[in-house]
Amino acid sequence: MTPPNASSSLALDDKRREAEARPKGRGVALFFRRWMANPLRMGSVIPSSPALCRRLVRQAWPKDGEMVLELGSGTGVIARALLAAGLAPERLVVVEIEPDMAEMLRETMPGVTVIEGDARELPRLLPQRLQDRIGSVICGIPLVLLPVTEQRRFIDAMQAVAPGRGFLHYSYCATSPLPWKKHDLAAKREEWTPLNFPPASVWRYTPRVG
Ligand SMILES: C[S@@+](CC[C@H](N)C(=O)[O-])C[C@H]1O[C@@H](n2cnc3c(N)ncnc32)[C@H](O)[C@@H]1O
Repeated sequence: MTPPNASSSLALDDKRREAEARPKGRGVALFFRRWMANPLRMGSVIPSSPALCRRLVRQAWPKDGEMVLELGSGTGVIARALLAAGLAPERLVVVEIEPDMAEMLRETMPGVTVIEGDARELPRLLPQRLQDRIGSVICGIPLVLLPVTEQRRFIDAMQAVAPGRGFLHYSYCATSPLPWKKHDLAAKREEWTPLNFPPASVWRYTPRVG
């Protein structure tokens, strides 16, 4: 499926949507403060760029009636890009562990389901009626910084609430941020952009069959 508002041209509309997705000063300041407090959990000094958000919107766009689940939403730049591309707020669930970020997400995105908590607890945190509707999953949590056993906990949680769907994961690594064979996943680099700081890739991981 393609986002209804997606356009490859540099139309005025695109610029407007990028501006909407751009984090406001408050978001950037909050992001930096949380990074100072917990750099490993944040994994980045600033929110994702509009260029990276646009690529994630393209890759994560769900089929009719399905929802998008975003883990580690931060200040919500990707979520807002999905909304700006035409995703109804009711079709978006975001999870964020930092309370002040979760509060900002609730304030700035009415209608979106905001879950404040640890993504490893997803099967408990996400109501069953929503689990049944997840079409795509975006994981923004910096898994590359974690030991394999910890990575596994996040992967298991995503697979429990969205079985068979796999997940998108963006990263600044030159190669796969996850040892996909160890996790019994198939991996594909779907996107790359130099217009992010640092340059970033979008990886798609899916359960290996057979
Ligand atoms: C690299 S930032 C991405 C933020 C945002 N999605 C963006 O692209 O700008 C990682 C985010 O994951 C959140 N996070 C880290 N560990 C988490 C966990 N266990 N559960 C939920 N969120 C977590 C952090 O608080 C942070 O907001």
